[in-house]
Amino acid sequence: MGIGEGGQGIGLERTAGKDDDKIKKRIPRNALALWNLGFKDITTLLHDGRVTKSNIFGNGFNTPAQEALPKGLDNIVAVQALFPMTRQFEMAGNPGENEIIGLVSKVGKDSMRIDRVWPVITHRIRGIPEYVQLFKNAFDDVNSPLDINITHIVNSIAAFEIHEWKSFDSPFDEYLNGDKQALTLEQINGMNLFYGKANCSSCHSGSLLSDQKFHSIGIPQFGPGRTRPFDPYARDVGRMVETDNINDMYKFKTPALRNVSLTAPYGHNGAYPTLKSIIKHHLNPIKMNKNWKPEYANLPKAPWLEEIDFVTFSDKREQDRILSSIDIQPIELNDKEIDELVSFLESLTGRSGNQRPLGKPDKVPSGLSID
Ligand code: HEC
Repeated sequence: MGIGEGGQGIGLERTAGKDDDKIKKRIPRNALALWNLGFKDITTLLHDGRVTKSNIFGNGFNTPAQEALPKGLDNIVAVQALFPMTRQFEMAGNPGENEIIGLVSKVGKDSMRIDRVWPVITHRIRGIPEYVQLFKNAFDDVNSPLDINITHIVNSIAAFEIHEWKSFDSPFDEYLNGDKQALTLEQINGMNLFYGKANCSSCHSGSLLSDQKFHSIGIPQFGPGRTRPFDPYARDVGRMVETDNINDMYKFKTPALRNVSLTAPYGHNGAYPTLKSIIKHHLNPIKMNKNWKPEYANLPKAPWLEEIDFVTFSDKREQDRILSSIDIQPIELNDKEIDELVSFLESLTGRSGNQRPLGKPDKVPSGLSID
């Protein structure tokens, strides 16, 4: 479960911050892995599919910006990049702290207007000469600071993400390309279970091992949730937050599994620390949910949030609703078979792993610290 604006440090070292700046709320869901976002068949992003290809608003995408989406966006990854900067607990900060959050928050009768944020961010970038030069180099239609707009900004973020985390060099790929030695016997057994008796591929299908659909598998619920305006308390109804359709209650998008061994913890909120434990959850969701312990979540310490952290998990009625929504049948596998499945999932890890082409820069033109 992520730590947004107010936190300190990066990656596993990130803490919830301190004093007045400390986080006011956890990010309700885990940050998604960024592998292979350029894959052409991706139609929907995020755990609840909040960013989806669709022509409902006449601009190619169904997003929180609805008709206000800027024009000229290169792809769905650029579209997604528009939103974290507008969100209070992710990047924008708390009311009173800066002009950005002031623009998004409710003003009088006016409702939320996320599109007001983008010109302000653009203005900041236009004011940094080193960025202006980089944008001139990258885009034919940028000749002066005023030519830069939010579309250039998110298109370049997307180009970076797509290039940096492209990963198709796993032993599994080598095996599919004809190198029968690329997988161990244990991994081959795991693969046969995955596509056979264990039924994993009924949801984890295709090149990225995701059907890009939404299912409820009863992951233990904790944290602030993505509470909707009329929810009685903090909870996360998953896909239903987006569709308002009761049939989507507690459904989350099937995650892609390439490089999954590099992206613990698992589940939309990081409920399980290991591949073995999340697999066991799939095999018997009700039993695993009932035996789940808050320590498994290994949340970054934030004592001032503890009261809310496990309130949903200990609410019996909410628990019953989650468990009755599960659309996965229990499957019996022995320990050896579970280990084989883990081993197969490990064979989906690219040979280059976390060694990415560009990596973390030493500094950035804005001068913001990279800690
Ligand atoms: C009914 C569809 C379905 C089936 C069948 C299924 N999964 Fe999943 N899987 C999901 C969904 C949905 C999630 C995410 C749930 C959530 O976060 O609430 C998930 C999550 C995962 C994760 C965690 C990934 C991450 O990045 O957090 C792994 C690993 C995984 N599944 C492996 C498997 C394996 C192995 C099998 C076969 C034993 C399997 N799944 C069968 C739908 C399915």
